[in-house]
Amino acid sequence: MNTYDQLYINGQWVAPVKGGIFETLDPSSEELLAPVAAATAEDVDLAVKAARQAFDDGPWPLMSGAARAVVLRRIAQGIRDRQQELAELEVRDNGKPLPEALWDIGDTAGCFDFYADLAEDLDGHSEQPVALADERFSSVARKEPVGVAGAIIPWNFPMLMAAWKVAPALAAGCCMVLKPSELTPLTALELARIADKAGLPAGVLNVVTGLGPDAGAPLAEHPGIDKLAFTGSVPTGSRIMQAAAKDIKNISLELGGKSPFIVFADSDVEAAVEWIMFGIFWNQGQVCSATSRVLVQRDLYEPLIQRLKQEAEKISIGNGLEEGVLLGPLVSQGQYDKVREAIARGSKEGAKRVYGGERPAGFDKGFYLQPTIFADVPEDSWIWNEEIFGPVVCIRPFDDEAEALRSANNSRFGLAAAVMSKDLPRAERIARKLRAGIVWINCSQPTFTEAPWGGYKQSGIGRELGEWGLNNYLETKQITRYDSEQPWGWYIK
Ligand code: NAI
Ligand code: MG
Repeated sequence: MNTYDQLYINGQWVAPVKGGIFETLDPSSEELLAPVAAATAEDVDLAVKAARQAFDDGPWPLMSGAARAVVLRRIAQGIRDRQQELAELEVRDNGKPLPEALWDIGDTAGCFDFYADLAEDLDGHSEQPVALADERFSSVARKEPVGVAGAIIPWNFPMLMAAWKVAPALAAGCCMVLKPSELTPLTALELARIADKAGLPAGVLNVVTGLGPDAGAPLAEHPGIDKLAFTGSVPTGSRIMQAAAKDIKNISLELGGKSPFIVFADSDVEAAVEWIMFGIFWNQGQVCSATSRVLVQRDLYEPLIQRLKQEAEKISIGNGLEEGVLLGPLVSQGQYDKVREAIARGSKEGAKRVYGGERPAGFDKGFYLQPTIFADVPEDSWIWNEEIFGPVVCIRPFDDEAEALRSANNSRFGLAAAVMSKDLPRAERIARKLRAGIVWINCSQPTFTEAPWGGYKQSGIGRELGEWGLNNYLETKQITRYDSEQPWGWYIK
């Protein structure tokens, strides 16, 4: 196995200035997976300065999009060449089942290829003429890289979340500093190795591993950063926004959710059960867009809950590297405790626990938890309203469309939502009225690099992926020229 006790700064592998080390665990065994370099403000400063120099004096922002695309495609290929190995590393660091990690790594490579295409497109389209009413002037609007970007990412899709920020930032011509989560830092360091081998110029991508307060906070506060992109919890997002407010950094935030799934009684119960299961149990429910609040129309309510229970009982739990496992351990002791507390709270609040909520039999070690189903969940309860970020689904019945919509929109979050019905005009009508950035009809969770991703309300600011993700890393400049021979006429008449 590679070692992870150095940071990647200015194209070099360097020990942290203060020599710090932290440990990342394998959540299936709770054992040490690797000692990892613990960056502090001193290292972050070096990384930002390297990115600053690469941006201000280096070739990257001035290269054609086509030339940047060549490097991005080499990164994509470098990831694909090591897909199996990287997926296994992701499983060992995060706990997720291997087939899901293989998707993640495939999507990670695909994301670099997608933004390589968009980098090429920029060449023909980064300048557009602006028609001015005053014909003495001519003007163009020009897209330019925003500068040095800082990216702080979470642990639920470690390498994919890195790609969602690194690929568009590099495509745009930005230079950057990436801070992965301390719970899953390994694949971000592998990305640095791959980018280095792909010929990315020194300083364009810097990776600093470390704890949130020690490495993330100094990055958010650093005056050398022009743009901050963050994915994670609402409280940390709020802290980052406050740090960014000091010197008016451009920010984008992708935060939590409590996403509703409305199931009308005309739905096929098997299809509903499959999408609900996937919507809340894939990746152990540690998904920002997880459909964690399920609203089921009265006639289908009891039959659906019974079928859901039968399927939840069958879910195979275990080490994500084992064949056939659908539910791995949660990522950490902290996350495990948080989810167990939420389950205890739900029971106290009067929700009916239909299934799960316990450590599965036969597991003494590892952060394993049964898939958990709560029904008849009170609408004003904590578990109905707050993000649990684990394999816990909350279900309530509804009678009519108006009630379903009101209840679905009654949340401080607005990341995702889903609606299921055979009546497509109704599903489309509801999709337009849901206050969420992502709405799925007759499915839940499938995510595409081409389509915009982000939240309404407290779920965030800005959109990632697609062309919207590229725009996150671009500034718009007008260049306006005076073409007339005549004086402007302020004092010369
Ligand atoms: P977090 O939001 O604290 O961590 C995300 C990233 O922010 C990590 O890289 C962390 O090191 C960094 N960070 C932490 N404190 C920071 C600070 N003061 N300044 C700058 N960076 C900082 O999330 P955490 O603690 O890992 O998980 C807590 C909860 O957050 C979860 O239970 C879940 O509810 C939510 N969450 C939501 C995610 C999403 O995709 N929307 C992803 C991960 C967690
Ligand atoms: Mg780990």
